[in-house]
Amino acid sequence: MYRILFTLLFSRMDPEEAHHLAFRWIRRVARVPVLRTFVAAVLAPRYEELRTETLGRRLHSPFGLAAGFDKNAVGIDGLAMLGFDHVEIGTVTGEPQPGNPKKRLFRLVTDRALINRMGFNNDGSLAVAARLASRRPVFRTVVGVNIGKTKTVPESEAAADYVKSAERLAPHADYLVVNVSSPNTPGLRSLQAVDQLRPLLTAVREAADRAVPARRVPLLVKIAPDLADEDIDAVADLAVELGLDGIIATNTTVAREGLGLTSGPDLVQETGGLSGAPLKARSLEVLRRLHARVGDRITLVGVGGIENAEDAWQRILAGATLVQGYSAFIYQGPFWARSIHKGLAARLRTSPYATLADAVGADVRTSA
Ligand SMILES: Cc1cc2nc3c(=O)[nH]c(=O)nc-3n(C[C@H](O)[C@H](O)[C@H](O)COP(=O)(O)O)c2cc1C
Repeated sequence: MYRILFTLLFSRMDPEEAHHLAFRWIRRVARVPVLRTFVAAVLAPRYEELRTETLGRRLHSPFGLAAGFDKNAVGIDGLAMLGFDHVEIGTVTGEPQPGNPKKRLFRLVTDRALINRMGFNNDGSLAVAARLASRRPVFRTVVGVNIGKTKTVPESEAAADYVKSAERLAPHADYLVVNVSSPNTPGLRSLQAVDQLRPLLTAVREAADRAVPARRVPLLVKIAPDLADEDIDAVADLAVELGLDGIIATNTTVAREGLGLTSGPDLVQETGGLSGAPLKARSLEVLRRLHARVGDRITLVGVGGIENAEDAWQRILAGATLVQGYSAFIYQGPFWARSIHKGLAARLRTSPYATLADAVGADVRTSA
């Protein structure tokens, strides 16, 4: 059904327009109580065995929606209705900004991939914080808030920009993510270097504690798949040293590996971050490396190229407590989260592990 809709409508539209149209429909359905209850009953099934506790929260499932889909926190309940058990909003920057000029999102259909250079188009931390503050949640979903640097702010003042967002947004966040890995803001990824990352994460931690003295808002960092292995280890060590709560691996890649020949050279050469199927192998590799380094001392979130339940299961076995996706949602539509929950529950039931927590990182334990 969705495949027909995708072929006849969405694939003929500009990808960004298609995104806005689909997201508007989702939000409309979620505004009608009887409709959203029905849709959620079908698409957000609850499997006892998938219940997860992490980052100080209880979740129905480890599977959620990655950052970038709902940049402005306008449709959290609609996305929860479709079965995403946590929704990471953002990236939100200190100041509002329009992002890069259009066209800035490209579909590589035969590769089941996307290239984007959106450039953090968002309403800014003040507006998004106000929206979150006035939100009356319908579904109990964990809301992560992903923050990044305003483009016009120089790198030397980056920390102050993140701090501003953290102070405004931490009170409304179940967890906070410092995004230093988007390829579409010049200089952003250099903040992943430990000597820059240490003061940045320390400042954001302090800002979150100042803003929410009564609760320790979990703090995570989201990293790029393009980091060299030694840099991954360095970030992992830093995360442990600073008492960070988690690492999200990974963002999109600037590499163009794993693409077939059918997408055409023009499309492949578009500037931006590549996501979807071609990212799968590297994201899994980065996750494995992180897990080998940090063990279960901090929560790992696996993202990048997850298309089906088997992919999600592989991330869990490799050490991810939570898994996220984005690109495959565009290609597979509203039944996607449901099929992942169902497949994950089936895999867990037939596995040697009594609980989902037992399965996290099991690959490493069995090979050790
Ligand atoms: C159009 C688009 C916009 C994105 N925007 C953001 C963003 O604002 N912040 C962020 O941390 N990640 C962003 N991402 C990256 C995703 O959160 C995710 O890390 C990446 O796409 C890999 O997952 P996937 O292969 O399942 O898509 C974006 C991805 C896409 C496709």
